[in-house]
Amino acid sequence: MAELSRRQVLASTAFGALGLVTPVSREVSPWTWSPTASIAGSGTGADPRQIWDTEADPVSAELLDSGAVPEVNRLLWNWNRNDQPLPGGLPGYLVDFIEEARQLPSWADRAKLETAATFNKSRGLYLNLLNGVGGGMLSTAIPKEAWSVYYSKGGADMEDRVAKTSLLGFSVGSLNAYRPDGDCIVQAVKTRLVHAAVRHLLQQSPHWKWGVPISQEDILVTWHTLPTYAMRKLREWQVPISAADSQAYLHVWQVTANLLGVRDEYIPATWAAANAQSDQVLPPNMGPTREGVELTDILLSQLAEQTSPASISRPLVNALARYLVGDQVSDWDQIKREPIWEPLIANAWPLLVKFREKLIPLPLVPEVAWVLDEAARQYILLFLTKAKETKIEIPTINRPE
Ligand code: HEM
Repeated sequence: MAELSRRQVLASTAFGALGLVTPVSREVSPWTWSPTASIAGSGTGADPRQIWDTEADPVSAELLDSGAVPEVNRLLWNWNRNDQPLPGGLPGYLVDFIEEARQLPSWADRAKLETAATFNKSRGLYLNLLNGVGGGMLSTAIPKEAWSVYYSKGGADMEDRVAKTSLLGFSVGSLNAYRPDGDCIVQAVKTRLVHAAVRHLLQQSPHWKWGVPISQEDILVTWHTLPTYAMRKLREWQVPISAADSQAYLHVWQVTANLLGVRDEYIPATWAAANAQSDQVLPPNMGPTREGVELTDILLSQLAEQTSPASISRPLVNALARYLVGDQVSDWDQIKREPIWEPLIANAWPLLVKFREKLIPLPLVPEVAWVLDEAARQYILLFLTKAKETKIEIPTINRPE
């Protein structure tokens, strides 16, 4: 309770990058977000903090309890394409689940998904930086997510964990994401099974004391650190975005939320609804934890290894991370202050963006902007390379002791 109060006090001062506003105590307050603002347009209004994944949870639990996971992982290793039939030999109940879960929702709009793919490509540098580095730093400042990641299997090998998570991120952003030859449906359905396995496993961890993890609300919280946060930052950086592109970018993430098992009655229908829901769910779900601080340090060290020369690497990474997520979240994550680099980045990055968007000529871009440009490319390349080396698999254990 003491920690909660502290989080609320801290969160109440948060603003800026996330549009964080003064929170009410949602631990005790009722769920008020109206399903009329959702893709479904209506719903029960049931509290998503009390709903998990009715379809996937029993499937992963049964796979784990029956010892089938290693064989299932082996069989699913080469199940990669959206249009690929499932391999033979899988348990019938898993086949039934996947065949249902791999269907795009009836409201998925192929034309919008194509527009989103082109938008993701044209703004790839910003979006990958925001979703990778920005989203990463935000997720470590979400206590329930930091605890889940830390105490699950991947928490002991963050390099692999980041690589696996990047797989879905890059997949959402790829040109053929939801085309038959793409792989976004496969990655999302595998992730849904992983989340269901984590729900089952974490409750058996001696360290776990936070109830059933990864509720529908928790997934929404993380979702807002991806598209909602990214769109807010693009607007803040004054990146010109057509209405069609903005709608399409929202749409690809709406479809992804559905495939991750979020019920349509919680998926925001518009950006206005997304921003409102983000303002409601983020502040009470963010704050500092020991685990989040440790994970942040590991993630930033990994990035620093990619930056040269070594003398500027960690300060540059710290300052860029602080720039992306703002002081409040950075302080929670205990990202070091960098008095030299922080003002340089705050000045140079918007100019770099304006130049890339052909809004200002080259001479107005300071030299240091190219260091940032190169660093951003290196970070994205790191995630891309690592992602290619791995695949999403259902875990069988928690974090090894
Ligand atoms: C696993 C993405 C929400 C905790 C994964 C994986 C992906 C992913 C791609 C597979 C990578 C792997 O196996 O390591 C997402 C997305 C989310 C989301 C896109 C929301 C839009 C959440 C939330 C939590 C969470 C809300 C916790 C509160 C985990 C954990 C794993 C995982 C603990 C497994 C790590 C392991 O096995 O070690 N997630 N996730 N995720 N996710 Fe999520």
